[in-house]
Amino acid sequence: MAALVLGIETSCDETGVGLVRDGRLLGDALASSVDEHARFGGIIPEIASRAHLEAMVPTLDRALAQADVTLAEVDAVAVTAGPGLVGPLTVGTAAAKALALALDRPLYGVNHIIAHAVVDTLVHGPFDDRVLALVVSGGHASLLLVDDTVRVTELGSTLDDAPGEAFDKVGRLLGLPYPGGPHIDRLAREGNREAIRFPRGLTAPKDQAEHAFNFSFSGLKTAVARWVEARQDAGQPLPLADVAASFSAAVADVLTAKAVAACQAHDVGTLVVGGGFSANSQLRDLAAERCAQAGIELRIPPIRLCTDNGAMIAALGAAVVARDLPPSPPDFGVDSTLPLTHTVQAAATA
Ligand code: KG4
Ligand code: ZN
Repeated sequence: MAALVLGIETSCDETGVGLVRDGRLLGDALASSVDEHARFGGIIPEIASRAHLEAMVPTLDRALAQADVTLAEVDAVAVTAGPGLVGPLTVGTAAAKALALALDRPLYGVNHIIAHAVVDTLVHGPFDDRVLALVVSGGHASLLLVDDTVRVTELGSTLDDAPGEAFDKVGRLLGLPYPGGPHIDRLAREGNREAIRFPRGLTAPKDQAEHAFNFSFSGLKTAVARWVEARQDAGQPLPLADVAASFSAAVADVLTAKAVAACQAHDVGTLVVGGGFSANSQLRDLAAERCAQAGIELRIPPIRLCTDNGAMIAALGAAVVARDLPPSPPDFGVDSTLPLTHTVQAAATA
């Protein structure tokens, strides 16, 4: 029988535990500390770390109960080694190391961003030999070439803000509660996306040589701030829905245009979209439209698997185990900026 892999995720504010066997998700439990950060308008790492510590054992127990397996049946343990917040990552890897040691099972410290793409295999089946992945969230925006599910080449990433981060900042500007992303999405559905022409970062011809597949959203965020200020200075009411719709359209336009161009440049027939920002409705709609036009198969997991969760770590762990990649050393270190060349963390703590 294929290996039963336990996955643990603690890179940010969600404690996730998932159990995967043979490409199937058997159990998946989540605890979130997002409400504890809301009044600060951003994640406080110490609060998140403490919440992971308190949630770890109960979340593990819920995932095991849902999967109807015992810890003794687990064949391998996978845990997020990075990228993410050092304190939260340290709590998760300490738990995973303790479990692997007690159970005498191999331990894999895996890459969170790659897991955001690979989780889709639990829903839509194995990847082709080569797929393209767009991973977008509050912390990341990356375009990746993915070979044999676990080997990744980074084509580009954001030079400044991640899309979710830009949404949260614009949300604050518009007076919306944290995190602003879902609120802007909701408002945008009632607005006119062509009302205001906001800039599309790194899409000018002069940027194509160096930045064809990189993103930049900080200029857009500033443009929205200027537009809002000008309206307020003139004493005019803010057309909130139109601002939200036009801003969202600019982000979705750039993300989907670059993802489709990357598929075409590398002759790849499948685009996988993952990460918390793939909940965004304009991104989903425009990706579907542009992929259909270009004859590209579009794969997006359901929203509960797009936001941070343990199933994605178990999915990548299972893919790594199936390919016989070496486990991480028992003293492997967390890395807040773990590079995409590292599907599995090999380095010991510095
Ligand atoms: O992947 P995720 O749960 O956490 C990170 O790893 O960052 O992503 C959360 C981010 C937040 O910035 C949130 O505002 C944004 O994704 N987000 C959205 C939507 N749902 C979540 N942004 C725009 N539209 C949405 N529907
Ligand atoms: Zn994430």
